[in-house]
Amino acid sequence: MVIVVAGAPVPVPRPAMPSLAQDGAPAIKTLSLGVESVAVPSAAVKQPPSVDCRKVKCVALTFDDGPVPQTNEVLDVLRRRGARATFFVLGSQARNHPEVLRRMVAGGNAVGNHSWSHPMLSRLSLKASKSQLNATENAITAAIGPHQRLVRSPYGQDTPKVLKLVRGFGAPLILWSVDPEDWKYRNTGLVTKKVLGAVRRNSIVLLHDIHPTSRGAVAGIVDQLQAKGYVLVTVPELLGSKAKPGARIANG
Ligand code: NI
Repeated sequence: MVIVVAGAPVPVPRPAMPSLAQDGAPAIKTLSLGVESVAVPSAAVKQPPSVDCRKVKCVALTFDDGPVPQTNEVLDVLRRRGARATFFVLGSQARNHPEVLRRMVAGGNAVGNHSWSHPMLSRLSLKASKSQLNATENAITAAIGPHQRLVRSPYGQDTPKVLKLVRGFGAPLILWSVDPEDWKYRNTGLVTKKVLGAVRRNSIVLLHDIHPTSRGAVAGIVDQLQAKGYVLVTVPELLGSKAKPGARIANG
């Protein structure tokens, strides 16, 4: 399918967008897609595990349910501080915002699979639940190329059925150990306080980049954790070889 897109001799949807004001001309985007789907994987593969969480105090921030265009705010905050995080994206959102996924990877962040449309996977047929993961993985791969598979089930479901699904999918199931319930407490100060009060070494912190109040908390959380000597890493960096398919992981 990539070949079809890259090789298409006719500038497919671009003539409809003649405006110079359009940042990132569609023509360039379309053309570069083919190139990036080759270039990005090699960049991702060559990135070494730059942090050894057996030797330093690590924390993994994770962000669910995006991406949204405003996820870029979080990426900016992380980049300026030399921090990394993991984004468990919905396929339906990833399809619409592939450029945000590319920015995630460019910043050293990891991207995981949070299903296509956020259903309770335990209630779906095996076929339907597989398709939730596969379609999302396809959207992620279309944006960033090959990558390590990570799954976070919607609502953190970890029933035997879901664990079997995730094992069959070839990914670990990544849950969390710190939950400030930021979907409920739409208050930046409170979310920040709850995270800082609960974080321990190797914590996995659950946040949602779809909420402005949560995005607003990231700078304070990162600054204060770094001041305490924590290194903010991705889930693959935190877990290393523990990230085996079918493993249920809530903490590093
Ligand atoms: Ni979610």
